[in-house]
Amino acid sequence: MSTVNERRIEELARERTLPAGELAALLSTLTDGEAELLYARSREVRERYYGKDVYLRGLIEFTSHCRNDCLYCGLRRSNARAERYRLSEEQILACCDQGYELDFRTFVLQGGEDVAFTDDVVCDLVRKIRARHPDCAVTLSIGERPRESYERFFEAGAERYLLRQETSNPWHYGRLHPAELSIANRKRCLRDLKEIGYQVGCGIMVGSPYQTWDFVEEDLRYMADLQPEMVGIGPFIPHKDTPFANFSAGTLEDTLHLLAVIRLMLPEVLLPATTALGTIDPRGRELGLLAGANVVMPNLSPRDVRAKYLLYDGKICTGDEAAECRLCMARRCASVGYEVKVCRGDHVSRQRVASEAEAPSLAAAGGTDASGGCPLVESLGRGLG
Ligand code: 5AD
Ligand code: FES
Repeated sequence: MSTVNERRIEELARERTLPAGELAALLSTLTDGEAELLYARSREVRERYYGKDVYLRGLIEFTSHCRNDCLYCGLRRSNARAERYRLSEEQILACCDQGYELDFRTFVLQGGEDVAFTDDVVCDLVRKIRARHPDCAVTLSIGERPRESYERFFEAGAERYLLRQETSNPWHYGRLHPAELSIANRKRCLRDLKEIGYQVGCGIMVGSPYQTWDFVEEDLRYMADLQPEMVGIGPFIPHKDTPFANFSAGTLEDTLHLLAVIRLMLPEVLLPATTALGTIDPRGRELGLLAGANVVMPNLSPRDVRAKYLLYDGKICTGDEAAECRLCMARRCASVGYEVKVCRGDHVSRQRVASEAEAPSLAAAGGTDASGGCPLVESLGRGLG
């Protein structure tokens, strides 16, 4: 006899959605035994599209200055104790060069909303990275900007953009953010990014203050509607110098459940096992992979600034060199039967587009390698080393 939740899991795997209220009901009542079925279904779907491959992204935290004041974030402007730094263009390019040597083919430029990084400065940087490393993708994660700015970054060569909605519920959004930020503008940004043609990443924190399962269901339905290419989720973790210092962190289990549900709802999505997940549990990222994640984002920032980019307390990897993180990540993936793949790691829909462009007859015959082959890299003759 299967349980109500087991039936819900099978339905979710089949239909990619559940009737109103049932996503919240599933997530709020899932037992450990039922979760195993959820993970098994999630892994099946993940392996159908991406095989055993894990994609690498090199995270460059290039500025800790932020004009925003999000209540959960250690880099909020009201936190006078945050140490502020800004990497120079030379430093950022050096991170990319080093990252390239370490097999990274995606660079994620992440920072606070720093007014010093004007559109011109960002475009210049993106162009320089693309010129030095034409076989690499550049992802931006620099917050809310007007549509025209996003258009300029795209023309400069940025192809992906990460901007978590944090929560889709307007009331909840208002509890997490100062009055000058709105969910309406956040959604406007995400819509613009999609329309411009970016591979877009949205996402939430799991267990953030005031979050309910109903709000999480709203987030899941928002994602199903937006159809992002990436979804970044990790547990909320309190930062001691923020108004949320005394709230408890999100849990490992809730985050793993949600990763698996997202994989079933958006089968082809790029889903990172995040640093925050590795921070609340030493095996968090490996368990994330086993729950359906297929991306890891080791830190490429220079070691001397890492401890200053503290969104939350206890962040891991702040003392390690990039090369150590890279090796560590390969080992962690292998420990759960997955393998780091050296390639740009585009969303499968974009991999199809790329291979159709280079070999139309093959693609038309249905000959694309859906198991995660990297046509972009292969076409550049780099092999898969
Ligand atoms: N705990 C967990 N994640 C956090 N972020 C910001 N502050 C915290 C925190 N205290 C996440 C947000 C943001 C991303 C860059 O980091 O979701 O979008
Ligand atoms: Fe800058 Fe939160 S305060 S992103």
